[in-house]
Amino acid sequence: MEQKSRGRFIVFEGIDGAGKTTQIELLEKRLKEQGRRVFRTAEPTESVTGGMLRDALAGISKRTACEMAALFTLDRIFHNVNPVHGIEKMLADGIDVICDRYYYSTLAYQGSEIRGDWAFDMNLNCPEIRRPDVCLFLDLTPEQSMERISKGRVTQEIYETHEKLEQVRRKFYSVFERLDEEEHIVIVDASKSIDEIAEEIYLIVNTLGIR
Ligand code: TYD
Repeated sequence: MEQKSRGRFIVFEGIDGAGKTTQIELLEKRLKEQGRRVFRTAEPTESVTGGMLRDALAGISKRTACEMAALFTLDRIFHNVNPVHGIEKMLADGIDVICDRYYYSTLAYQGSEIRGDWAFDMNLNCPEIRRPDVCLFLDLTPEQSMERISKGRVTQEIYETHEKLEQVRRKFYSVFERLDEEEHIVIVDASKSIDEIAEEIYLIVNTLGIR
């Protein structure tokens, strides 16, 4: 019997304004043109837990950093094991999975607010949370990011945004440093042209091979 090869699990993370959505769409299109089947997905997901997360992100409900980390992690487990359209099911069917945000976001956003290694352990030691084949981090300096996202704001708001962007970027970098030995993480210079970035990403994905 013919052995079906597993799909590839590709995660995108990125700084605000780095063009994550554009690049995800372009990669999906190119992989499909190559004849591959692609499943595009994102976190938080559309699950009940995902809804709770969206309410909290929108400020409708208030949650602590541990509650948020636990909810994101639970949502991620469903995302992996859902028998109908979970990540595991798709990969097993030979479909490439492109996921917009994954545990790197939990480690950067929630992890930095929680003392100790709990958020790391919960995500990286969970047998039902798969490690991606590659994490593509679309990187911009806070200046570049602001140039793209902020137009016509007052000075103080610009400073606040700058500080926040700097902080988030630092957090992602420290997460990547920590995972450097055990994972395939690529920092992509998102200040290049859309086509250049798309080409770079396409080449990286094609070196992943198909198992
Ligand atoms: P979303 O509106 O989907 O935006 P984006 O285009 O920025 O990806 O919002 C997702 C938000 O959730 C984003 O602000 C980051 C946050 N988030 C976490 O804080 N932790 C997580 O684990 C994940 C997956 C997302």
